[in-house]
Order: sequence, then C-alpha cells, then structure tokens
Amino acid sequence: MQRLVLLAVLVCHARAFALDGSSNSYSQFRKWGGGTNGTLEFEFKTDQPNGLLLYTDDGGTYDFFEIKLVEGALRLRYNLGGGAQIITVGKELNDGHWHKVQVQRHDDRTILTVDGVSQMRTSRGKEFNFGKFETNSDVYIGGMPKWYNKKLALLALPSVIFEPRFMGSVRNLIYPDSEGGTARRQETRPKDHRVSESLISIN
Ligand SMILES: *[C@@H]1O[C@H](CO)[C@@H](O)[C@H](O)[C@H]1NC(C)=O
Repeated sequence: MQRLVLLAVLVCHARAFALDGSSNSYSQFRKWGGGTNGTLEFEFKTDQPNGLLLYTDDGGTYDFFEIKLVEGALRLRYNLGGGAQIITVGKELNDGHWHKVQVQRHDDRTILTVDGVSQMRTSRGKEFNFGKFETNSDVYIGGMPKWYNKKLALLALPSVIFEPRFMGSVRNLIYPDSEGGTARRQETRPKDHRVSESLISIN
C-alpha cells in the first residue's frame, strides 16, 4: 500500500525528481551529445550547501564535466584534454528555491550560467570535442552508481565518487542526446529505477 502511494506521488511529480542523498541515490540519463557545440541545462532546489549535481565523462581518459554545489556556490569543473578548468557562479544557492543552470559549449569556449549570470572560460589544446560519443559515459545526476567504486579506471575524474551526494530536487534536464542533435527534455532511463527504489526503501 505504501509503495502504491509512493509510486503515485512519483508519477505525479515526474517532471521534478527527488534525490534523498542517501548512500546509493543517483539518477542516470542518456549520453550528452552536445559536449562540443551544444548545451545542457537543468534546475535544482536544495537546502544543502554541498552536493554532486551532475557528472559525465569520456569513459576514463581525460575529458569530464562535473557540476556540484560547494558551500552554496555552483561549480563547474571540466576538462577537454588540455587541462582541468573551474568556473564558479552564484552563492547561497541552497535557499530552498529553484535555480537554473546552463552550460553552453562553443569549441574552445565554455560558458556557465546560473540564474542568468554567466562566466566563460577558454580551453587550450588542439581539439575541443568532449570525448567520443560512442565511449562516453551516461549522464549521472545527484551521485554516482556504487559499481564505479570497483572500476575507478573508467572515471576520468576518480575523485567524483567521494563527492557528497545531492539531496534535493531536479527538473527540466534538457540537452541533446545524440551527436549534434537538438536539445530535448531527458527522462530517467527506463532500466533505471534507483530514484524510486531509494525513496521506497525508506519504509
Ligand atoms: C563546432 O562549431 C565550430 C564553429 O561553428 C565549428 O568550426 C566546428 O567544426 C564545430 N565542431 C563540431 C564537432 O561540430
């Protein structure tokens, strides 16, 4: 009965999903196809100052994108092969209100925008492709699956598994999920039910 009630709640709120921040909470989405010349955006809401919001990488070589909250500020750390870059925007974002995050890629330039405030960085190197679509990882929101603990070689940024998990809500995750494709709203991969599992297991 409780399960049915919880499932009903989840269906009603399908547009926004909750992450409880417990030791196995995360959500998994299709690969980002806009890592070279594309966009990625989502909104989040939390009262916690720290937490991993998003991670995706090239399957364990150099390239990665990591978005997290650090003491209430939004931090994007990424590498396109020429060295890691950091962009930090915003403060006191753990105020329980929705905040919008956008990442725009234009070859060597990467722009992070939070609630309309933007910062840009330029990468060094010869090419600015984000990994290779075929071998890139999926997009993870809120944490990393535990099986990565035993497969650190598959992570371009192994320290990501030590990041505190995000506790709060996420909605309107929008990005192209094919190379050079158009941006669209992403839904959790059907085979992945961990968000609902972690909520149900509270009982
Ligand atoms: C990205 O855009 C730039 C400038 O428009 C273009 O020169 C480049 O070929 C594009 N890269 C890819 C992989 O589409």
